Amino acid sequence: MTSQTAQDTAQVTAQDTDSFVTPDGRTIGGVMMEMKNITLRFGGVVAIQDISFDIREGEIRAIIGPNGAGKSSMLNVISGFYVPQDGEVWYHGARRPRMRPYQVAEQGIARTFQNIALFDGMSVLDNIMTGRLTMMKSNMLQQALWFGKAEREENAHRAQVEKVIDFLEIQNIRKTPVGRLPYGLKKRVELARALAAEPKLLLLDEPMAGMNVEEKEDMSRFILDVNDEFGTTIVLIEHDMGVVMDLSDRVVVMDYGKKIGDGTPEEVRNNQEVIDAYLGVSHD
Ligand SMILES: Nc1ncnc2c1ncn2[C@@H]1O[C@H](COP(=O)(O)OP(=O)(O)OP(=O)(O)O)[C@@H](O)[C@H]1O
Ligand SMILES: [Mg+2]
Repeated sequence: MTSQTAQDTAQVTAQDTDSFVTPDGRTIGGVMMEMKNITLRFGGVVAIQDISFDIREGEIRAIIGPNGAGKSSMLNVISGFYVPQDGEVWYHGARRPRMRPYQVAEQGIARTFQNIALFDGMSVLDNIMTGRLTMMKSNMLQQALWFGKAEREENAHRAQVEKVIDFLEIQNIRKTPVGRLPYGLKKRVELARALAAEPKLLLLDEPMAGMNVEEKEDMSRFILDVNDEFGTTIVLIEHDMGVVMDLSDRVVVMDYGKKIGDGTPEEVRNNQEVIDAYLGVSHD
């Protein structure tokens, strides 16, 4: 999945709008998001130290690095959950003002969590429906006064949720309480909930952690299909280097809050600093 343009990442700026087609036929557009000199501290801990990188429209951008490197923290900055002490987030060519997570979600950014965050007592269907909450316009009063509109809206939301259920092949568990599902399927339901929001940018924090080989293959295929069929831009945190090599167009490597590599999978695999800090040691 490499191309000359993808390799020229160091020169990419927010002004870059040139798109290109990958060898596997996907179109990668201009810069969608730019993280500029992001620093995030928790008391004395510097979780992210002066990191800059960009995310291009339509690409699968991996973030890798050892435990505690700051990967989830970075995702939390993108999703608006953490506000960095320093640095700027640029989205579609404009600096993003300080926003609350629901406002970031309204801009078309959805996520899954490293530790599954679903409602165990609720059905798969209802959990996925919560992915559309920020898009639901009708409030209770409107529903009381103008039932028809609220009903039409509800039907539209349900239709989108059913589409996602079909896409991820989970029709047979749609009524099952999430708490009863095996781990691998819970992860898939979390992906479904994120997709229900029809995101432009999808943030996945270790979507395959703890899965067996077959479950990983399924999840990899779904991630590729989401990217391919909906053109969704994806940021993926993942420890399995085989998966990273197969799925991603470009990779950011973090270590102790710093960026130590950025480029195509091939480039970071041959980067000596990355090998020393991360690739040379075994991971679960
Ligand atoms: N809410 C928080 N409060 C205090 N420290 C935090 C918080 N979140 C993260 N940290 C610290 O920031 C650093 C980076 O953590 P982060 O979770 O981003 O790493 P990670 O790369 O996602 O690791 P892992 O691979 O284990 O998930 C760690 O030292 C962690 O202890
Ligand atoms: Mg993490």
